[in-house]
Amino acid sequence: MKLSSLFVGLMLLGMAAFVVAQAAPAAPAAATYVGAAKCKMCHAKQHATWMLMKHSKAIEALSAEEQKKPECVKCHVTGYGEPGGFVSMEATPDLANVQCEACHGAGSNHLKAPMAEKKKMINGKGRDCRDCHSPHVDVTRMKAAPAAEAK
Ligand code: HEC
Ligand code: HEC
Ligand code: HEC
Ligand code: HEC
Repeated sequence: MKLSSLFVGLMLLGMAAFVVAQAAPAAPAAATYVGAAKCKMCHAKQHATWMLMKHSKAIEALSAEEQKKPECVKCHVTGYGEPGGFVSMEATPDLANVQCEACHGAGSNHLKAPMAEKKKMINGKGRDCRDCHSPHVDVTRMKAAPAAEAK
């Protein structure tokens, strides 16, 4: 019977789809950036020390014009050029400055992970110091530091 063989065919197709769906477990979603305020909930101590460092205010080193330039913001914000990272001061103001996730990597998966698995940041690495810092700094890109800042 044509109709019943079509029915059986559809059933087999359905089963095959089911098997495929079972065999391919969903890959863990790529982590996205959540911002330092979220990290503060559990890491108040690290947040407090971070607030004392210029990393937490790095965007303020740039003028309003410079804050629009990719060649400037890329080291003064969090996750520039990466999925879910800083885009612009208008779109992603919460990801300005060199935040936790600039060094530790995007944190959404760490946030969701069960407590026992939080020990390791499951999102791999963020950036290395040397991705932003160089001993051979082009000092011409910097504004003259205000005299008052000399310690
Ligand atoms: C719900 C609580 C919670 C939040 C929110 C949270 N963490 Fe954690 N985190 C933990 C726990 C628990 C550990 C494992 C114990 C520990 O090292 O304190 C941990 C460990 C870490 C470690 C050390 C990993 C290691 O190798 O030992 C880093 C770095 C870290 N968290 C960064 C972050 C960052 C960045 C954020 C924000 C994106 C964040 N955490 C948000 C609970 C949290
Ligand atoms: C995403 C880029 C980026 C990364 C990664 C980064 N830094 Fe920085 N860091 C900056 C910028 C930008 C400043 C200057 C901020 C300012 O002066 O407004 C800075 C400033 C500093 C300062 C001066 C702090 C102060 O409060 O006077 C120290 C020290 C420092 N970084 C150390 C490190 C170390 C150590 C690492 C790695 C563990 C690191 N940085 C990773 C961008 C980065
Ligand atoms: C490769 C990463 C990188 C890029 C790109 C970058 N910066 Fe920075 N900037 C840093 C780091 C790191 C520091 C901290 C001092 C140091 O180690 O150079 C810093 C410090 C500064 C400071 C001094 C802040 C202070 O508190 O004294 C100013 C101003 C500044 N940058 C402006 C700019 C401007 C303007 C641009 C774009 C033309 C730019 N930066 C591009 C990484 C970068
Ligand atoms: C400039 C880079 C940088 C920034 C910004 C930064 N961290 Fe870290 N953090 C480090 C490094 C480097 C270590 C030491 C890692 C190691 O020991 O292997 C560390 C260690 C830690 C640890 C492990 C426990 C400890 O105190 O050593 C936690 C938790 C942590 N950071 C959370 C945070 C949180 C939360 C923020 C933001 C509020 C933050 N970090 C911002 C670089 C950074």
